[in-house]
Order: sequence, then C-alpha cells, then structure tokens
Amino acid sequence: MSRYQQEFQHAIQQPEEFWSEQAKRIPWFKQPTQILSYDDQQHARWFSDGEMNICHAAVDHHVENGRGEQAAIYWDSPVTESKATITYAELRDRIAYFAGGLQKLGVEKGDRVVIYMPMIPEALVAMLACARLGAIHSVVFGGFAPHELAVRIEDAQPKVVIAASCGVEVSKVLPYKPIIDQAIELSAHKPDACVIYQREQHRAELTERDHDWAALVTDAPFADCVAVKGTDPLYVLYTSGTTGKPKGVVRDTAGYAVALAYSMEVIYDVEPGEVFFSASDVGWVVGHSYIVYAPLLRGCTTIVYEGKPVKTPDAGAFWRLIEEYKIKSFFTAPTAFRAIKKEDPDAKLLEQYDISSLKHLYLAGERLDPPTFHWLDDLLDVPVIDHWWQTETGWAIAANLPGIEPMPTKAGSATVPVPGFNVQILDRDGEQAGAMEQGSVVIKQPMPPGCLTGVWGDPQRFHSAYMAAFPGYYLTGDGGYYDEDGYLFIMGRTDDVINVAGHRLSTGEMEEVVGAHPAVAECAVIGIHDELKGQLPVGLVIPKDGFDGDEATLEAELIARVRDQIGPIACFKQVLVVNRLPKTRSGKILRKLLRSIADGKEFGVPSTIDDPTSLEDVHLAMKDRDVGAAEKATQV
Ligand code: COA
Ligand code: AMP
Repeated sequence: MSRYQQEFQHAIQQPEEFWSEQAKRIPWFKQPTQILSYDDQQHARWFSDGEMNICHAAVDHHVENGRGEQAAIYWDSPVTESKATITYAELRDRIAYFAGGLQKLGVEKGDRVVIYMPMIPEALVAMLACARLGAIHSVVFGGFAPHELAVRIEDAQPKVVIAASCGVEVSKVLPYKPIIDQAIELSAHKPDACVIYQREQHRAELTERDHDWAALVTDAPFADCVAVKGTDPLYVLYTSGTTGKPKGVVRDTAGYAVALAYSMEVIYDVEPGEVFFSASDVGWVVGHSYIVYAPLLRGCTTIVYEGKPVKTPDAGAFWRLIEEYKIKSFFTAPTAFRAIKKEDPDAKLLEQYDISSLKHLYLAGERLDPPTFHWLDDLLDVPVIDHWWQTETGWAIAANLPGIEPMPTKAGSATVPVPGFNVQILDRDGEQAGAMEQGSVVIKQPMPPGCLTGVWGDPQRFHSAYMAAFPGYYLTGDGGYYDEDGYLFIMGRTDDVINVAGHRLSTGEMEEVVGAHPAVAECAVIGIHDELKGQLPVGLVIPKDGFDGDEATLEAELIARVRDQIGPIACFKQVLVVNRLPKTRSGKILRKLLRSIADGKEFGVPSTIDDPTSLEDVHLAMKDRDVGAAEKATQV
C-alpha cells in the first residue's frame, strides 16, 4: 500500500484513533477525551468535551512560543498604495484590545457579530476578536448589496455589526455605511451597535448607533481568550443554496482547527515561519480557512491582498507578490489565471520576477479547466494542484497531497480524496457507480472534522439539503466520476447553483428578484459558459400578457434590479425575452433541460463548463428549437 493509501485507510477505518493523533497539532486548554460522537440526528461531532480557543491557538500560542516578532500578516494594497507588516505580538494586542472594545458593547460568548469588511488587516482582527470572546462571527462579502446583507442580519441576529467606512475596487471607492444603514433598515432584527473602521479614502458619518473603531479601542481592556467547547460554533458563513434564502453554514471550533492544521502539512506542505498566500477574500470560505485561520494556526505569515490579479497595476501582480514576500504555497481560483492569461498570454511579465520561492500552486473554487491547467503547467516549474472543496466542508475534500506522497497530476482531476473523506459516486438508485461512470458525488458518514455541523437556525434544511437524498451520505451537489486509477473528476453542479468567477451563486435567488418585476410573468435563470468567469447567469423572461413596453428597457430594468438587490458580484448582465419556457406536464419549468440547451446538449446531460456556448446559442435554442418536442422527450 502506498503511504497515501495507508493514511487514507487509517482515517476511514479508525477515525477516532486517526483524529485523536491529529488533535495533538493544536494547543488545548482541556484535552478531549470524546473524539467522535453523534448528535440526535446521527451527524458527527468532533472533540465535544475538549476545550480550547482558536484565537489562542492561532495567535497567542505563537507569541508564547517565541514567534512574537515574526510577521503574522503582510498587508499589500496596491489599490490604496499601502503596505504593512504586523507581527504576531502586535496582532495579539490589536485583537485583545478590540475584543475588549466588543466586550464594552456587551458582546459575549455565543453572541453573533456580522462583519462587512474589505481586505484590510482589521477584517482579521475583527474575526479573531470574536473568536477570542467565543462570539460567533458571520462575515458577509463586500460585493453583496444591502438586501443580501439584510437577509443575513435578519437570520444571524447579531448584537453588533462591524464594518469599514469603505471598500476600494481597483479605482472605485465604495462607501459601506449607506449599505449597512440600508441593510439594517430592511432587516427586522436591529443590532445594538455598529463599529466602523474609518479609512482615509472615505470617512463615514457616524450616527447614534455607530462607534468609531479607533475610539472604541482607546480605553478598552485587554480581553483574555475565553475557553470554548470543541463543538461550540466559531462562525456562520452564508452560502448560496438552490432557493432564494442563503444557507448559514455553521462551523464548529476544534474540529475545524484540527482539520486546518492537518491540511497545512499534508496538502499545502508549509512549515511554521513560511509564507502562505491565498488570493481570495475573507468573505468566502477560502478566505476564512486559508487567509485567516489555517496559516496562523500553522505559525506561517499570511498575506492580506487588497487588489485584483490584473489591473493593479497589471497582470504581473501575483508574480510580484511571490517575489516580494517569498511565498512558498499559493492558492487562488482558476478564473484569476484566466484573467492573467487574457492580459498577458505569453506571461511576458513573469520574466521580470524571481519566483523561485514558490513550491506549489493550488487552485480551487471552480473546476480547473484543462486549458488553464496546461498553460500553468507549461509556464511554472512547480506542481499545479487542483483541489476540490465547498463552503460546507471548510477544507479540501480531494487534492494531491504533497505532504504525504505527491502524485502525478491529471488535467481535469482534483486527484484523490483527502484522508477522512470517504468520497463515493452513486447513481440515481443509490448504487455505487463503476470507474468512469458519472453520478452524484457523496461523502459517507461520518464526515471528518472541520465540516459543517448544521444550517444556522434550520436543522430541517440541513437534513433536507444534504442528508436526505442518500441516507448515510452527505450530498455534495456536484456530479463526477473516478477514473481507473482512482483519480476523482468533479464535473459541475447537479443543482441550480452556478459558479461565476469562483463565486457560488444561486440562480433561484436571481429568479426571485427577476420574477418580482411587475412586467414579468415567468422567468428562469441559467448559467452559460464564459471564457473568463467559467459561467455567467442569463435570465430568460416571459413578459405578462399585454406587455407593450420596450424589451430593451425591460431587460435593462431587470439587470439593474439584480445588481441592486443581490449585488455586482452576481454579474447578471444578460436577459432574453422569450416566447415560452419548457415545462413538465404539471407546469414546472424544466431547468435541467434549459441547462442542457445552454450547454449545447440535448436532454438531461449534466452540465460541464468545457462546452463552448454563447448567448446567441441560447437565443437560437430558445427561440427556434421545438420546445414542445423537447418537453415530450423528457417526459417519456
Ligand atoms: N466589493 C464590491 N464590489 C465588488 C467586490 C467587492 N469586494 N468584488 C467584486 N465586486 C464587483 C466588481 O467590481 C464587479 O463590478 P462591475 O460589474 O461594476 O465591474 C463585479 O462585482 C463582478 O466582480 P468579479 O466577478 O470579481 O469581476 P472582476 O471583473 O472585477 O474580476 C476576476 C474578475 C477574475 C479578476 C476576479 O473575479 C478574481 O480575481 N477572482 C478570483 C477568484 C476569487 O477570489 N475566488 C474566491 C473563491 S477562491
Ligand atoms: P463554494 O462553496 O463557494 O466554495 O463552492 C463550492 C463549489 O464550487 C463546489 O460544490 C463545486 O461545484 C465548485 N468547486 C470548487 N472547487 C472545485 C474544483 N477544484 N473542481 C471542480 N469544482 C469545484
């Protein structure tokens, strides 16, 4: 058996022994004796009687063990022409005093705190300060509009909202305060207070509910780390589901810390003191896990980058960062490299930089399409590692594992299941699919540490969304297959979730916004292939009988609506007015069929992003194809 197979089998066959060994990687206030237990719905719970604090493990512990003067964060912000280095000792103090400020506002263990911040070190300080107090943070990505923020505030019911005065998108300064105010106005739940970090690019005008960050910490006490149970929630992170309402993925504390610490060694192969860069945003799971918690738990230096892969100032931005900070492991989404390749196809800018510190490149967030894989593989002397994961799992389900045993890469494959994840492919009847046979990708219970422990405030949704389809298995929502060598290929979502520039979006949510327009009778939103962003949403709309307005005006109004209510990140820029949408006999819109048409396929085939298609194709398909015949074909 290979080293990988030994480790994988150990984790599957003796999970308690395996994970109790891995638990030694983090500092505990009280060692766990109960490694794996199950809740009343038979979902795995890890380290339930252990006590720890993840801020202590990620920051204070390193200061206490001689890393105080090491850089914890390099902040690099080409959009504001600023840079900063923050040592572990400085970070500990900033967190502890800010946590003291939060305590003054009444924040205690178990309270929720919503964070709406751009990529500045204070975003990490805010998250870690919550963790220090045992409060549950919920970070909302800055590209979401007030309505989306309101939905999350209403669901999480935070005591406090923490925000910056503005974000900066390349050359645009985006004031955040009006977004916060509007969101609180829209939400039925009103937080007690808002803390605003004032940035010099735009200062917000504060009202009665607001507290200035700097003033709050001035006379705040130094807050100590609060001991929490292993299973106490660390955060709630909302992600798109198939309905309009996002799901609040609940993450526990100790299982997450242990899983991340393990991953830094076996997947990302970094040692304490080395530099790790994840080019994402703290608003996404990749940011939570690999900008904030994992690099700091490992005693690495993490990079907080406020910029884009291109245009800040050019497509050499990532190469410059690798040289300047001597990055060893680098993680981003394939779309970022598609953007770089588009601007600099021969990678001329790379010649200006020495990137010899780089040992591995990791890609995730969407499928690593073979052309991008080959471009990178030809360009770089380091392994290009695709790995697959989701907000729900918190860390990679499948990867190449250089820290255990590097394996040859295969274009299009996320390589093999990470130890702890018993990944299987099931057909519609719940039978195991053979090699090369596509099916639903599922994970056999128990899920390893680090994975979601529930949907915030909605145990029923947790069960129905993930556990009900195949009893005993977690449904990932992705389709895929194993090849004959046991390599896993993830081909795309089997539900109405789409992936735009590595960002997960719900077409159902967009449909709710479009469908609420007074002139719209029916609509469907589907994802179509896009060279740069992987997929882009397109709205197909049937106007109400008697609609005599201008189609172009209606299209523009619908685009503006989605931007205002969901946010620019939805990238909803295309609408088609059509005569009819394919339906089942009972009148339900045949979304699967629409997806197949959009993919240039006939019926019922899972979508893949490799099939080139265009808006014109969809238009032709919708206007000219015999929708009736298609309906009939899917109903036999
Ligand atoms: N706050 C406010 N607006 C934001 C935002 C933020 N934090 N992030 C993005 N937006 C806006 C953008 O300005 C853009 O607005 P526009 O329609 O006015 O141009 C819109 O949302 C769409 O953003 P995006 O899809 O990111 O497109 P882009 O053209 O700005 O950048 C990429 C394209 C590929 C360079 C960029 O998406 C990228 O770097 N992606 C990396 C992937 C990533 O971070 N994945 C996270 C999971 S790993
Ligand atoms: P998110 O929860 O936003 O991280 O999105 C998770 C979804 O992104 C997964 O369910 C997949 O559909 C997709 N995804 C992420 N990483 C990969 C990958 N390496 N290969 C294929 N799909 C991926």
